[in-house]
Amino acid sequence: MSYETILVERRDRVAVITLNRPKQLNALNVQMARDLTDAARELDADESVGCMVVTGSAKAFAAGADIKEMTGLSYMDAHRLDWFHLWDLLGAVRKPIIAAVSGYALGGGCELAMICDFIIAADTAKFGQPEIKLGVMPGIGGSQRLTRAVGKAKAMDMVLTGRMMDAAEAERSGLVSRVVAPDRLMDEALEAAKTIAAMSLPSTRMNKEAVNVAFETGLAQGVRFERRLFQATFAMNDQKEGMAAFVEKRPAQFSHD
Ligand code: HXC
Repeated sequence: MSYETILVERRDRVAVITLNRPKQLNALNVQMARDLTDAARELDADESVGCMVVTGSAKAFAAGADIKEMTGLSYMDAHRLDWFHLWDLLGAVRKPIIAAVSGYALGGGCELAMICDFIIAADTAKFGQPEIKLGVMPGIGGSQRLTRAVGKAKAMDMVLTGRMMDAAEAERSGLVSRVVAPDRLMDEALEAAKTIAAMSLPSTRMNKEAVNVAFETGLAQGVRFERRLFQATFAMNDQKEGMAAFVEKRPAQFSHD
C-alpha cells in the first residue's frame, strides 16, 4: 500500500500507520483524511491484521486540521466536502486502533486520537482543542468525545480557553490510558497491539463494539447488548479453543472464527 501523506508498515498481525507531513506538523489535510481512511478500511478488511497503531512524529501526532487549506472555505464548500464523512468511516472501523501520541495532538489531531480506541502517550504529549482561538470550534467530534472522556468541567475548560493539557493531566483525566518515556512510546504501543492481535479477532471486534455501545446508550440497553454478544461468542470456534486451552494449561491457538 502506498499513500501520499501516510506510511503503512506491517509487523506480523499489527499494522502501523504513520502520519507523514512532518514539516506541517502532520496538519490533517483532505488528502491525509482520504489516505488514512482508505488504509484503515483496507486493513480492516484484511483478516491477517489484528490491530492497528496510528502515530505521528516526535514533535507532533497532528497539530490539527490544515488551517491553510481551510481559510478560504465558504459554508457551502465545507458542506460539500467529504471530510466529515471520512472521519465517520474511520470511527466505523471494527478492529482496534491504538493512537501512539508524541508531541502536539491539537484540534483535529486530538479528535483523531479520540476516534482511535485508546491513547498511549509519550510524556511530551500535549492535547488541546484550540479551535476557539481561530474563531471556530471542534468539527470532528471533539466537543462530544472529549466531554465523554474527561467530563464537562475539563472539557469546557479546554474548549473555551483553548489551553493544552500535558500528558500527566491527560492521564489523570482519563483521556489517555498510559504515559511512557518518549523512547518507549512505539515499543509500548506495539506490545499492546501485538497482545490484542494475538486474541481471537471476532472476539476482539465484539469487545470493541460493546465498549463503544457504552458511549451511545444507557446502562440497561448496554448490558442487554453485551449479554447478546457474550452469548454469541459460544457460536465461535475460538470460544471452544480459548476455554479448552485454559483447561489443558496451554496457550490458545485462535483460528479467528
Ligand atoms: C496548517 C500548520 C498547522 C495547522 C502547524 N502548521 N500547525 N499548518 N495547519 N494546523 C505549520 C506551520 O504553519 C508551520 O509551517 C509549520 O507547521 C511548523 O509550525 P510552527 O507554528 O512554526 O511550529 P511551533 O512554533 O513549534 O508551534 C507549534 C504549534 C503551532 C503550537 C503546534 O504550529 C500551532 O499552534 N498550530 C496550530 C494548532 C491549531 O490551531 N490547531 C487546530 C486547527 S483547527 P511554515 O510553512 O510556516 O513553516 C482544527 C479543526 C478541526 O483542527 C475540525 C475540522 C473539521
